[in-house]
Amino acid sequence: MRIAVLSLLLLLQVAPIFAQNKAVFSVQADKPGAAVSPTMWGIFFEDINLGADGGMYAELIKNRSFEFFKPLMGWQLRSSKAMGSVNFGSNLLIINRPEKSETNPRYLQVTLHKTPKDSLGLTNEGFRGMGIKKGLRYDFSVLYRLQSGNAKIHLELVTEKGEVIGSGQFAPKNTGDVWQKGETSFTATATEPKAKLNIWFEGTGVLDIDMLSLFPGDTWKGRKGGLRADMIQMLADLKPGFIRFPGGCIVEGHDLSVRYQWKRTIGPVEDRKLVINRWNYEFAHRPTPDYFQTFGLGFFEYFQMAEDIGAEPLPILNCGMACQFNSAEVAPLSDLAPYVQDALDLIEFANGSISTKWGRMRADMGHPAPFNLKMLGVGNENWGPQYIERLKVFQAAIKREYPNIKLVCSSGINHSGELFDYLNGELRAMKAEFIDEHYYSRPEWFLANAKRYDSYDRKSVSKVFAGEYAGQSDKTVSVNNKNNWRTALAEAAYMTGLERNADVVQMASYAPLFGHVDGWQWKPNLIWVDNLKTMPTPNYHVQKLYANYKGSRVVPILYKDKTPATGQDSLYASATLDQASNELIIKIVNASAKAQTTEVNIDGVKKLDAKAKLITLQNDNLEAENTMDMPTVVAPMEREIETKGKKVELEVKGYSFSVIRVKL
Ligand code: AHR
Repeated sequence: MRIAVLSLLLLLQVAPIFAQNKAVFSVQADKPGAAVSPTMWGIFFEDINLGADGGMYAELIKNRSFEFFKPLMGWQLRSSKAMGSVNFGSNLLIINRPEKSETNPRYLQVTLHKTPKDSLGLTNEGFRGMGIKKGLRYDFSVLYRLQSGNAKIHLELVTEKGEVIGSGQFAPKNTGDVWQKGETSFTATATEPKAKLNIWFEGTGVLDIDMLSLFPGDTWKGRKGGLRADMIQMLADLKPGFIRFPGGCIVEGHDLSVRYQWKRTIGPVEDRKLVINRWNYEFAHRPTPDYFQTFGLGFFEYFQMAEDIGAEPLPILNCGMACQFNSAEVAPLSDLAPYVQDALDLIEFANGSISTKWGRMRADMGHPAPFNLKMLGVGNENWGPQYIERLKVFQAAIKREYPNIKLVCSSGINHSGELFDYLNGELRAMKAEFIDEHYYSRPEWFLANAKRYDSYDRKSVSKVFAGEYAGQSDKTVSVNNKNNWRTALAEAAYMTGLERNADVVQMASYAPLFGHVDGWQWKPNLIWVDNLKTMPTPNYHVQKLYANYKGSRVVPILYKDKTPATGQDSLYASATLDQASNELIIKIVNASAKAQTTEVNIDGVKKLDAKAKLITLQNDNLEAENTMDMPTVVAPMEREIETKGKKVELEVKGYSFSVIRVKL
């Protein structure tokens, strides 16, 4: 009896405190504010960490046309004697003829003299091996020329240990002096993450070969020479509003000679001149000597992919300035014309009718309909008066011919400070449509800056593109950075501020996108891959929840102190209306370890559906990470909850991100 009375007394004391501590929010559902741009949440793509070659571009053969600086990098000769020497009267030579082909000067000459099978050949190691799947078709192709004699090419996919798991053969015809494409397909008999391809030559004659290529049969949309379907599916699942390509610093190049030039990335693949990838040598601590850009994934393919996944294309072009961290090389203003012309021609390539030169090129590549380009970036992370001077030339020329194309302009490398303030001021004065802000910062910065855009000028015609951001668990470019729950949760908190300010911020993208577990230069990355699998990070799930539960208009959600929740009691919140489905979407981040009881009162509605959908990302451990073997340590959980009249009551767990979707 005494215990019961005591408990009652305790309860009476605790109850009011509990009620006081309840996190009460009010949503003003009848006060829709800014429209959420359809392009709000998008993708940043760059060929870094084997993102394109060795990643999204499904080619399995590395250095397929012998154009790497070391012509046989990635290849191992299979002969009883050394290169160039005679083996049963046979040999292999690399021929270099730049005067005949500027873009693809080298090929392999195979001289055969009654050469038996398995005595002369090459092995290609792939990009950190080749990911091979049991039962899948593999398509081999080669450009060749056989003047006389008869030759045979034997193909063998082998495991790391050398067991054969697929074989095919191809008999070149006599072609005289003419290069032809030869093709053959075969099926793999086993799955192997690190396979190699043996190519054996047999017969007699002089066989010239180039562009040796092997693609899996399950490319995205089954396109020949296409993209890795599992990687593109991960992007499609994000339902991105836009895709920015091809970078990143790769646009600028270490110096101007290796800047990204889109015109060299279209047309027949064998004519796309290879360029060293800047991430090949950028970091002394992560050298990647075999990293080159073959441009098999070029501008046509980028546009096509954007269309496939329903994202607006956002190409970024070099503005006549190389990376200012590296060489800081600039094209003199008097020599800027070709750079500007590249921009004008790109718009024609994307949108021009097929009677125009570049529109015709697009049609010849298989896409007569325009790609509907609406935005174009000029420069990436460029800064200083030199940038503004060059940008003005681009702006004048582009607006003269294409007044409706919106320009995305760089605000440099920092999100604050003298450089940023200078550019921000100049760009707004120039009425730049989008200002590209980048922040690679610690999670604490993200948590502390959810208010960043609350005080931005609402009247400015310049809108923000948060073009590259990611929480750095250690520091920028540190190899110790992790895609842990701490960074993802901080990003989720920060993104409530982007969403709340959708009138100011109209595009945002995490960066970088992909990291290959055996070939990365930069961490963290949104999606990790190996040769066979993809792995979503906690950060990916955050991006996906925002993009999949976007809504069309922002509505105010106020905390108990009648201000937006930007960290009071470690809570962050934003809300939008999806006008098409008449649903309210509420996002709440609890950045503290403690569970918190929340009450969300929805004002200005007649009723709520009795049931709402709740999706939660949560982990008690801020250091938690997904791995290739355990990819769901942090993964969304979905359940139904009951609403009460016009409110939703919910206990948000410690370290959680919750999305509530309810029909009005
Ligand atoms: O995302 C990696 C790099 O970070 C990008 O290439 C560059 O724009 C930024 O500095």
